[in-house]
Amino acid sequence: MKILALVGSYRKHQTIDSLVDWALEGATRDHPDAVVDKIHLTDQHIEYCRNCMACKKSDPAQPIADCILHDDMDTLLPKLVEADALIFGTPVWLLGTGLIVGGTAREPRRAVTPATA
Ligand SMILES: Cc1cc2nc3c(=O)[nH]c(=O)nc-3n(C[C@H](O)[C@H](O)[C@H](O)COP(=O)(O)O)c2cc1C
Repeated sequence: MKILALVGSYRKHQTIDSLVDWALEGATRDHPDAVVDKIHLTDQHIEYCRNCMACKKSDPAQPIADCILHDDMDTLLPKLVEADALIFGTPVWLLGTGLIVGGTAREPRRAVTPATA
């Protein structure tokens, strides 16, 4: 079993990071053979989606749709596709830039369509 944990907070070892660690502790207690990959999205270079729709025009038989952008999503998307379980930790900043912030804000827009098309 592969577990992919994505941390969207800028602050390492603080609230969100710790909650993700606790979730991983529980998951690996239940699945001791699990292979865990934890990624801090703020360490990744992820450009914003340009809404070019290249992913939508890709051959649906491809495991991962095309994207005109080439950055750390090139390595993250295969991990998302291969993961059996996903843990997603994001701070809530309703008074800030939106419902989800930090590294978390860019990744979903780039992940949802290319990984599921
Ligand atoms: C500018 C700002 C706005 C926030 N807005 C909300 C909010 O609307 N609702 C909420 O529950 N928490 C809000 N918070 C609190 C954060 O979600 C909370 O502190 C979070 O646990 C921080 O995660 P971290 O410790 O990983 O940085 C806000 C924090 C900041 C800095």
